Amino acid sequence: MKVYKAKDYDAMSRKAANIIAAQVILKPNSVLGLATGSSPIGTYEYLAAKYQNGDVDFSGVTSVNLDEYKGLDASNDQSYRYFMNQNLFSKVNIPLENTYVPDGTEPDSDKACAAYNEILRKVGTVDLQLLGLGHNGHIGFNEPGDFFPDETHCVDLAEKTIQANKRFFASAEDVPRQAYTMGIGTIMRARTVLVVVSGADKAPILKQVLEGPITPQVPASILRLHPNAILVADEAALSETDI
Ligand code: GLP
Repeated sequence: MKVYKAKDYDAMSRKAANIIAAQVILKPNSVLGLATGSSPIGTYEYLAAKYQNGDVDFSGVTSVNLDEYKGLDASNDQSYRYFMNQNLFSKVNIPLENTYVPDGTEPDSDKACAAYNEILRKVGTVDLQLLGLGHNGHIGFNEPGDFFPDETHCVDLAEKTIQANKRFFASAEDVPRQAYTMGIGTIMRARTVLVVVSGADKAPILKQVLEGPITPQVPASILRLHPNAILVADEAALSETDI
């Protein structure tokens, strides 16, 4: 894994946006795998600025998001579709019809996952997959488990994830208990994987991801086997490693 150490969240965001911008400039019809959470917000801000000053054109881009809460629709301000519209899609010229997020409104999990797998097959190999890192090592909503799931599936969210994400909801009770997420296999088949990690609270898990065993108990650890994985992390997040 190639590691870029950034001074802070802003420098991390700027570096990650530069890498994504380079991808889109070199291949204007790129398929971008996108992520939500607080980690990529700054990256999206820099990308929006690059679009606004004419450096990057998103008109040929297709995007597929990692995950969505089961039960939330696009008008819910905690849904990941809403997040993407707010933080990126409304600020750049990506055609909205070429942006895909799992359908949280589909109550039948098998149906929702099969439909998203079909979309992923149609759009083809993801050129660059952006990822954040959960406090328990999850990527997308692939929680620690006994194996690495291949394709889109419905997950029961780990208690740690519910606690971490409750800050965005009125209370922990309001956090959905399930989500649809792209599988680890799909993530690993992306041509490039770009992980952004910031903050001292992520330092213990990042150390495990980089230096511990490669195990589904720490889902992000498998990224060390990816042929073209890039980590952009700030000093605080890397503070427990020798990097
Ligand atoms: C959420 C998302 C992940 C995200 C992670 C970390 O649960 N499903 O895609 O990477 O948690 O979030 P944050 O960047 O806010 O720490």
